[in-house]
Amino acid sequence: MALSLDYTCFLKGGPQGDVGVSSAALEAAEAAHGRRLDAMLAQRANGTIGFYDLPDDRGPLEQCLEFAERTRGRYENIVVLGIGGSALGTLALHASLSPPLHNIKNRSTDRPRLFVVDNVDPVLVSGVLRTANPGRSLFIVISKSGSTAETMSQFLLFLEALKTSVGDAWRDHVAVVTDAENGYLRPFADANDLPSFIIPANVGGRFSVLTPVGLLPGACMGWDLGALLDGAATGRDACLRRDFRSNPAAIYAACHHDLDRNADINVQVLFPYSHRLRLLADWNTQLVAESLGKTTASGERVGPTPHRALGATDQHSQVQLFAEGPIDKAFTFLRVLEHTDDVVIPQAPTGLEPLRYLGGKTFGQLLDAECRATNLALVEAGRPCCTITFPTVSAETVGEWLMWMEIATAYGGELYGINAFDQPGVEAGKVATYGLMGREGFESEKARVEGTPLTDEGSVVG
Ligand code: PA5
Repeated sequence: MALSLDYTCFLKGGPQGDVGVSSAALEAAEAAHGRRLDAMLAQRANGTIGFYDLPDDRGPLEQCLEFAERTRGRYENIVVLGIGGSALGTLALHASLSPPLHNIKNRSTDRPRLFVVDNVDPVLVSGVLRTANPGRSLFIVISKSGSTAETMSQFLLFLEALKTSVGDAWRDHVAVVTDAENGYLRPFADANDLPSFIIPANVGGRFSVLTPVGLLPGACMGWDLGALLDGAATGRDACLRRDFRSNPAAIYAACHHDLDRNADINVQVLFPYSHRLRLLADWNTQLVAESLGKTTASGERVGPTPHRALGATDQHSQVQLFAEGPIDKAFTFLRVLEHTDDVVIPQAPTGLEPLRYLGGKTFGQLLDAECRATNLALVEAGRPCCTITFPTVSAETVGEWLMWMEIATAYGGELYGINAFDQPGVEAGKVATYGLMGREGFESEKARVEGTPLTDEGSVVG
């Protein structure tokens, strides 16, 4: 069963009232749909943008599965070294598809633990170093550019630890996922005969979860990757429909864009009511922020601000703001109809009679009731909301949703008139870091950064 999108409460005059997308705006989006879709399809056809086709080419999946099968049982830990688009997809898939609390308790399968080292905070790095014995671990180094300082510094550390631990056998503990040609990792992998996997040149980091970036860790973890790609293919086909009204990505993107441009609602809150889906929101944050936060050719600064919330947890944290704060947010609830591993709430004993209404219901029912109730409360407070319903959380539905969001983001690029596939704004910080860390060729950056005080008059000492 496929996902569904209910956008009734995005529409002006819907149950949430006057704040919403007018029928005229939707008709205008519908009229321009063919042109926008054609622009996206042209990028697909001329090979500039490759993520659309990832579900169809099963070759990389077979390579990853073959590697995982060949090495099965050899490693106690899979340690992914990567950041941004080279880490967030794996984190989201791990939360969605591995048994809950897998690393802590689930030894019922022969699958390894998974650690994703997606930061250079010494606490994280040293914690993983102490927890994952290098001699019993596989380090999957993932970097499209093959040069990202965070990932390279982690690699240097774990490589040294590996050499100390297992000597020349370190090569049996490293796999590389990178560009076919560019960067430092590819020649290093070739020179050392390391298992290596390709991130296609026309697939950007934040669109790469369905390449070996997500598939290699997934194969080692035993996720149902065939179903993930099948779901992504289903999602892709729906989101490239020429009929605007039956195209979930086009509707989703057009509504968000109109809410931003015509109602000043430019915070997009993704609100999964599912522990398994919680990290999809982190993945989506990068996808939306890095793709759509841009300056147009005419110098206008555009882009929605993605925001994460988790049901029911954030009802006790953020919903007060959502319901009564500024009307600047559009909400997307992720609702799950059937929760696996559902648990019945026991009958309340004598002395706790007021809690009897809970007894006999399941936690899944409670979570779903909270999802519907919070959705209604926000709608009644005049907030635009939509709901994406997952029949259940599975590799197939997650794959489908990933593609929905990727294509909605590409569509957003067309709507805002920007290139959704570059990230020029990230470059300045990277270059300044190279300067501060003493990289050759970046001496002037070092001088520039060190000569620019960021704290002076405006600082307070506690
Ligand atoms: O989407 C992107 O391109 C970025 O977020 C990258 O994924 C991130 O900067 C990591 O880059 P790399 O994979 O080259 O190490």
